[in-house]
Formats: sequence, C-alpha cells, structure tokens
Amino acid sequence: MKSLIIYISVHHKNTEKIAEAIAEVLQSEIKKLNEVFDEDLSSYDMVGFGSGIYMWQHHKSIFNFVDKMTDKDRKPVFIFSTSGTKGGIKYHKELRNKLLKKNCYIIGEFNCLGWDSVGPLILVGGINKKRPNEKDLEDAKRFALTLKEKV
Ligand SMILES: Cc1cc2nc3c(=O)[nH]c(=O)nc-3n(C[C@H](O)[C@H](O)[C@H](O)COP(=O)(O)O)c2cc1C
Repeated sequence: MKSLIIYISVHHKNTEKIAEAIAEVLQSEIKKLNEVFDEDLSSYDMVGFGSGIYMWQHHKSIFNFVDKMTDKDRKPVFIFSTSGTKGGIKYHKELRNKLLKKNCYIIGEFNCLGWDSVGPLILVGGINKKRPNEKDLEDAKRFALTLKEKV
C-alpha cells in the first residue's frame, strides 16, 4: 500500500511529530506542504493531511492545495491535527467538508494537544508544554494501524 502524508507545522513542529509517527507505521512518504505544489496524488492508495489548528481550523495552505485537487485525486484520505485546546476533530470540519466535496473517502481523523505559546500565552511559556508527548505519539501510531485495515 502506497501512502503519502502532507503536512504543515509552523508553530512548534508539534504536528510534524505526529506526521512522523503515523508515517513510521504506514511506511508512507511524508512531505511538507511547500514540497508538494502540483503533486500528482493518483499513484497513492491513501493520502493524509495534517497541520496545527490556527484560528479554529487547519492551515489555509492545505485548503488551497485541496481546492486544486481534481477527480483523479479522489481517494481514501485521513486528517490529523494538533491544537492548543481540546477541540478534537471538531476543528476538522472545514477540511473534512472540502475533502468530501472532492469526493474523497475520509477513513480516519486524529487530534491531540500541542504546545501553544501564541499571543499572551508566551508570558507563561505557553500551555501543553510537553505535548505531543510519548502517549500522544503512541496514540497516533495506534490510529495509523486502524488506517491500514481500512484500505
Ligand atoms: C496563530 C495561531 C492560532 C492558533 N489558533 C488556535 C485555535 O484556534 N485553537 C486551538 O486550539 N489552538 C490554536 N493554536 C495553537 C496551535 O493549534 C497548537 O500550538 C498546535 O499544536 C500548533 O501546531 P504546529 O506546531 O504543528 O504548528 C493557534 C496557534 C497559532 C500560532
């Protein structure tokens, strides 16, 4: 099974850690979003999209990428994120809807807390300082195993 993970992790590389944990289990290719401009997704069996949550949703550049996807990119996808607060996958609504409009099949979603020092939080060194932690990475790996069974 050939899979690709596309992510952007601009704040503290929190989501990058999750992307790497999932990629390890799936043995997938892993690329930062700025490395996949004009990427042909048709050769992959499954594609994952992830970023931190910025203003209640994924990074805008992921939306721009998905907007450009065509019918040949229609395939099983999964969504992941890290966030400063416990919004869970409710933060995925925008991206989920965009992918569904592209007729992709959502086969799983994952969220965990990430170190957040945005704005005044910097004064206290941020919140969730050690997240993602070992347990989060283990959870991400377990999540990846469930994906394997779905494709
Ligand atoms: C500009 C900005 C906006 C953010 N907005 C939210 C938000 O709306 N909800 C939330 O839970 N976390 C928010 N966060 C916290 C990030 O989602 C969190 O730190 C995440 O783990 C960052 O991932 P990254 O290190 O991969 O970029 C925000 C962080 C930044 C820098």
